[in-house]
Amino acid sequence: MASPSEGSVSSPVEAPRERVLVLDFGSQTAQLIARRVREQNVFCQIVRHDLPVARIRELAPKGLILSGGPASVYEAGAPAPDPGIFELGIPVLGICYGMQATCKALGIEVSPGTHREFGRTQCHVKHRSPLFDGVGEELTVWMSHGDQVRRPTEHWRILAETADCPAAAVEHQSRPIFGLQFHPEVTHTALGGQLLGNFVRKICGCQGTWKMSSFIDQQVALIRERVGHRRVICGLSGGVDSSVVAALLFKAIGPQLSCIFVDNGLLRENEVESVRQRFGEHFRTDLHVVDASELFLRELAGVVEPQAKRKIIGRVFIDVFRQEARSIPDAHFLAQGTLYPDVIESGANTDGPAATIKHHHNVGGLPKELGFELIEPLRDLFKDEVRALGHELELPEEMIWRHPFPGPGLAVRCLGEVRADRLRVLRQADTIVIEELRKAGLYRQVQQAFAVLLPVQSVGVMGDFRTYDEVVAVRAVTTEDFMTADWAHLPHTVLQSISTRITNSVRGVNRVVYDISSKPPSTIEWE
Ligand code: XMP
Repeated sequence: MASPSEGSVSSPVEAPRERVLVLDFGSQTAQLIARRVREQNVFCQIVRHDLPVARIRELAPKGLILSGGPASVYEAGAPAPDPGIFELGIPVLGICYGMQATCKALGIEVSPGTHREFGRTQCHVKHRSPLFDGVGEELTVWMSHGDQVRRPTEHWRILAETADCPAAAVEHQSRPIFGLQFHPEVTHTALGGQLLGNFVRKICGCQGTWKMSSFIDQQVALIRERVGHRRVICGLSGGVDSSVVAALLFKAIGPQLSCIFVDNGLLRENEVESVRQRFGEHFRTDLHVVDASELFLRELAGVVEPQAKRKIIGRVFIDVFRQEARSIPDAHFLAQGTLYPDVIESGANTDGPAATIKHHHNVGGLPKELGFELIEPLRDLFKDEVRALGHELELPEEMIWRHPFPGPGLAVRCLGEVRADRLRVLRQADTIVIEELRKAGLYRQVQQAFAVLLPVQSVGVMGDFRTYDEVVAVRAVTTEDFMTADWAHLPHTVLQSISTRITNSVRGVNRVVYDISSKPPSTIEWE
């Protein structure tokens, strides 16, 4: 069985392409730098800060960006790049710590700051350079540093300054090496994207060939070459990642693709139908919809403990999937929707930064031991690029923008016992939440929204009757990465329509509450 990185479709035959490397010194914003560069249609990869120069030569980047980081360059053991990178003749841009590490490596003193400079500040451009093309004399920049370079040697030119930082931007006089003390990758730096664009296009000479359409052509060729006449299985979940993988594979190998969709009875309204319609009728893949809902509900009967629910669902899913996969003759590969942030976070890529393990209870995935070779065509992509790819592959908007849905499905939103009748109530309530958000034009402005059925009953009054019915909680969050989240400040009118519709039309519910907890300390899901 191949390891995930060996299994990457992009690794066996690397098509030539422009690339810029971000050497990651532990910055919170390394991914943001990579995304900004990709917005210039230039492929950008994050690698460890000390990647040996021999490996960098092999990757043949057009430019190197040294990220920020939490360390101080003058401390013992401070992370440093391979000094050989400055002799390659490849343009280098050091950002914050990356600038200090560059300057130190080239013999310039870096001094501890007397105070930390943090937040927005005004930057004055003193000297024109291609790096500042299209930028006026004054710009707002985002700073976050203690140390700084005070007196560059005569080999350097100071391009810009701020009140507290005399060398906010520097340029080497004879080599294509630049440093920015501020962070061009964050949106608080006005025209930061322009600066990074100037670096990759004007200084590194990139043409901007990284486009989703060319990515498709390239991946289709790679997939065909690797798969040959063999068969690929793809597990569909109804979510955007697996849908894009399936659509891409279908384009590459058509009838050699078999899709498996396990209906665990814990899905959202219309999920089975939309998958059937798209992958069975529109794309006409060899689609296997396995209705295992009764089996799942039987195994979950009487179980209320959240971890126990997750374990059961994970186990049954793998059993059902494995059995269905075995029924498909000649299946050799398994396609998965692994994305670039997963690769970086798990450190699975040997060029990647030191392993930072993502602490996430990912249930609903497949184990490596299934015995297939993996195909992971999205391993190089960020989520927004996957969506763009979905557009190119003509997936419907609704599928591309659907809020994420956990592997254990409605079971972790049906607090207490998971039963068909309670799931029906939950599904109806959930549909109303989503419909009302769409109606108000807010669906895309929150990153996840759903209903939760609580395991409590409360007293109500309907007409002349006293009721003793269930409670639905509504959850809606805004978030960038799902690691932290804020509760969405939905307009009261929208909350009101949700509440009125649920209590009026969902039998068995007489109360609706809105969850106003952020993550942390709460999680997004309730279980
Ligand atoms: P929490 O509840 O941990 O959720 O704040 C963060 C994000 O992860 C999703 N989630 C899961 N996704 N399998 C998944 O595939 C899971 O077991 C799982 N648990 C939570 C959750 O919906 C949210 O988007």
